[in-house]
Amino acid sequence: MKAIELLADIAGVGRDVARGGYSRHLFDAGELELRDWFTEQAMRRDLTVRTDRNANIWAWWGSPGPGAVVTGSHLDSVPGGGAFDGPLGVTSALAAVDILRDKGFRPAKPLAILVFAEEEGGRFGVPCLGSRLLTGALDADRARGLRDGAGITLAEAATKAGYEPERFGADPEALARIGCFVELHVEQGRGLIDLDSPLATGSSIIAHGRYRFSFAGQGNHAGATLIGDRHDPMLPAAAVVAAARTVAAATPDARATVGRLAPTPGGTNVIASTVDLWLDARVAGAGRTPALVAQIEAVAKEAAAQEGCTLTVTEESYTDDVVFDESLRRGMDRVLGGVPALPTGAGHDAGVLAAHVPSGMLYVRNPTGISHAPEEFAEAADIAAGAHGLALVLEELAR
Ligand code: GLV
Ligand code: MN
Ligand code: MN
Ligand code: MN
Repeated sequence: MKAIELLADIAGVGRDVARGGYSRHLFDAGELELRDWFTEQAMRRDLTVRTDRNANIWAWWGSPGPGAVVTGSHLDSVPGGGAFDGPLGVTSALAAVDILRDKGFRPAKPLAILVFAEEEGGRFGVPCLGSRLLTGALDADRARGLRDGAGITLAEAATKAGYEPERFGADPEALARIGCFVELHVEQGRGLIDLDSPLATGSSIIAHGRYRFSFAGQGNHAGATLIGDRHDPMLPAAAVVAAARTVAAATPDARATVGRLAPTPGGTNVIASTVDLWLDARVAGAGRTPALVAQIEAVAKEAAAQEGCTLTVTEESYTDDVVFDESLRRGMDRVLGGVPALPTGAGHDAGVLAAHVPSGMLYVRNPTGISHAPEEFAEAADIAAGAHGLALVLEELAR
C-alpha cells in the first residue's frame, strides 16, 4: 500500500472536533486504536509484532536480532496537531516494506519498524517518553509518577490500557538490536520550501528544554478585592510570556514559547490562586538553553515578588544538541542522489537514539511550513518520494 493510502486509513482516528486537527495521546482511545491498527497492518505483512517493556511497538521483518536496520516514528500527536507529524514516518515505513517486497528484496540484516510511545509528551509532559525510557535517559520511577492534566499517573494509565508499568526502564537488550535507526518525518518549518526540494536528510537538532513555572498567590473575588490588595499569580505569569519573547529575540538562534498556561481555579470573576505555565526553550549550543531560561526565571522571580506571590521552577525535560551520524547521513544522501541536509529545531526520537546508535532523519517537504497545527501538510508526490527514498535507504543498509 502507498503511504498516502495508509494515512487515509487512519484519517478518522483521534480527531479533535473542538480544537481542530488531531489529539492522539498515549493510551487514550485514539492512540490505542492506532496501536491496534499498526499491529494489524504489520501482521498483514507477516511482520512479527513485539511490544517492548516501555510500550514501544516493534514489527520485525525476519527474526529479531542484533545489528538490525530500524525505521519508524510515532503515532501520538500534540493537542490539535496535524495528520503527518509521526504517522508519516510510520506509514512510509510500512509502504517501504511493500516497495521492497514488490522488488523481491530480501534483507540480509534484520529489519524492523519501531513505533515510539508518547513522542510529543502531549499527555504526560516529557517528550520522547518511549525512547528516553528505552535508552535509560528517563528514570523509570519518575516516569511512572508523571501525571496528566487530570492527575492520572502514567503508571495508572498504562495499567488501565493493559501494559505493565512496573517493567518500564532502560532496555539494553532492545537497544543492542538497533544497528542503525532512520526516522522519516514531515518537515516542520520552511526549510524545504526555500530549498525547493521534496526531501532532505537531517544534520542536527538544537538543544531543547521544558520548564514548569508554578506561581502561587491568593485566590479572591474579582469585584470585591481592591487592586492594591491583590496577590494575583497571573501577573508574574504574564511577565514570563513577555520575557520569553524579548529574551529569545535578543539571543541569536533562540526559540522560547509559552503554549500552555493553567490558572486555578480558572473563573472569569475569580483572581487565580495559582498559575502553572510551561516554557519550551531551545537554543543551539551547550549550556545556552539553561542560560536563556535563567534570564527568564530572573524576570519571573522579580515579578512574583512584586505581586507577593511565590515561584517554583521545575525542569521537566532537557536534551542537548544532537548531531546525526555523518557517515549514515552521507550514505543516505548517496542513495537519494544528493539532497539538502537540514538542521532543525524540532525534537525526534531519532535524536534521543543518536546518543547510542548511528541515527538519521529523512524529511519530506511541508508546503505550508506549519506544523503542530491542522495546517501541517505534505503533497501526494512528495509522500511517494519519501517512501521510495526510505525504501532505497533501507535496501542499502540491510543488504
Ligand atoms: C516535538 O515535535 C517537538 O519538537 O516539540
Ligand atoms: Mn511533533
Ligand atoms: Mn514528530
Ligand atoms: Mn517531535
